[in-house]
Amino acid sequence: MSQKIAESSLMERIVSLCKRRGFIFQSSEIYGGINGFWDYGPLGAELKRNVKEAWWREMTRLRDDVAGLDASIIMHPAIWRASGHVDTFSDPMIDCKTCKGRFRADQIDEIACPQKPSKSVVTCGGEKTQPRAFNLMFETNVGPVKDEASTAYLRPETAQAIFAQFKNVLETSRQKVPFGIAQIGKAFRNEVTPRNFTFRSREFEQMELEYFIPPDEAIEAIAGSVAKPTGPGHPGTPRPDWGWQLWHQYWVEERIAFYGRIGLPRESLVEYWQKPEELAHYARATVDLLFKFPFGTQELEGIAARSDFDLSQHARRSGKPMAVFDEALRNAWALLDDRTRERLAASYRNHRLAHYSRSGVAIGEATALAEADADNLAKGQYIPHVIEPSAGVDRLLLALICHAYAEEGVTDEKGKTETRILLRLHPRIAPIKVAVFPLLRNRPELVAKAVEIREMLRPHMTVAYDDSGAIGRRYRRQDEIGTPFCITADFSTLGENDPSDKDTVTLRERDSMHQQRIKISDLLPFILTRIN
Ligand code: GAP
Repeated sequence: MSQKIAESSLMERIVSLCKRRGFIFQSSEIYGGINGFWDYGPLGAELKRNVKEAWWREMTRLRDDVAGLDASIIMHPAIWRASGHVDTFSDPMIDCKTCKGRFRADQIDEIACPQKPSKSVVTCGGEKTQPRAFNLMFETNVGPVKDEASTAYLRPETAQAIFAQFKNVLETSRQKVPFGIAQIGKAFRNEVTPRNFTFRSREFEQMELEYFIPPDEAIEAIAGSVAKPTGPGHPGTPRPDWGWQLWHQYWVEERIAFYGRIGLPRESLVEYWQKPEELAHYARATVDLLFKFPFGTQELEGIAARSDFDLSQHARRSGKPMAVFDEALRNAWALLDDRTRERLAASYRNHRLAHYSRSGVAIGEATALAEADADNLAKGQYIPHVIEPSAGVDRLLLALICHAYAEEGVTDEKGKTETRILLRLHPRIAPIKVAVFPLLRNRPELVAKAVEIREMLRPHMTVAYDDSGAIGRRYRRQDEIGTPFCITADFSTLGENDPSDKDTVTLRERDSMHQQRIKISDLLPFILTRIN
């Protein structure tokens, strides 16, 4: 039975395990570390690859309607002006004049003063400055001259590259709206207060999908009506009459299902619908998937319905068209009755006018642009809307480790009770899939069998080989890093006890500690079906 551990000490134990077993190290540790930056050790690197691979496989390879992208981290700074990041991607920051601490204004109540870090003291009580906007983008300079013209930014999200390359991907991938573009990559934010281990870092990775859909007016023209959600749960296979709300619901459910498949069940997540006043100005709806971390229930992923804001901004700022041509829309539009045509055109015109007005375009120009957009809709052209499931790799890793961490009291054959620490990681993402042991390292026949098994399995999965210490200790070492299976070549393997056991091994499962004998020739299919 799992032992109950206080939440605060649970986090300390998890951090300690991550360091002790080589999952996560502090960056630049030998120089005292650097706040907000982390390195993944041998096991962390494997775990991270497995998580990213699972996401990539499900998002792109198992679907016909998503194409991949791997864009540069530094892009033209105009991208960040168009996206709004240069002007608005900031946190309110305040300084304490006494302790010189620097805090996020919205978190001041939760942060201890550096001079009085006692839990009971929130800040030193010193006089605070007024909140100032602090832009979170890291700046750098491109080329040998350091001036304003050479200023560039490390991307604070991977999403904008997807928008900037929308047309290239569309034209080269033979996709048609609705379709998505997926990307995994580094993002950088100069967070005012990085904290909670890797949860809020200054360098992290994102896995983002931008899924492009027609505006509802186009759907109605083509399909006759726009289907809307009828209740909670997965809405099923996409249909041509789905409007943005159903697509949004679809992606929320797809993402929750994905988490279930890598070991975070629905019960471990909280679905939080942002309130209207919390929404970004371009967003129509955002669902945050929260995970119950030991330090609180916090965001793992956001799934936003971002309207046509991003592509519209890039179209206007770059002067390059971002609209797509939809033949079905042009044909359907020609068959609409006048009243429907006018109603849909008016609705589209109003949405576009609202977009231009929010983007600061003067009313006269905004009206003319919106009018032109409505005319283009009638010709089968529109700027796609987008649903964006955006997840953080590092946060997901932390959630997976927190969820998997367990301490159990176990009693051995001699009646001695000890604590078993284990990571109940889903076999699909576990960094090491199987560990192979010779029962004794000084019996060449046992070693030869164990090595033979390791070589047989190795091309298909990550395999650890361990011949040191008592077998129970070796099991514990693997439990602690989440290895789902251990295989021991023992005397039965050599046929010394019972000839019918020759070429069988002991296979032990991590969670149940159940042991069974299995033929060496059955090992590969047995394990493969459990790790894939
Ligand atoms: N393109 C949308 C976007 O970037 P976001 O909510 O700012 O949205 C998406 O970020 C995800 O990226 C978050 O849900 C989180 O998992 C991850 N993330 C954001 N900031 C992070 C940070 N400082 N450290 C670690 N992960 C972060």
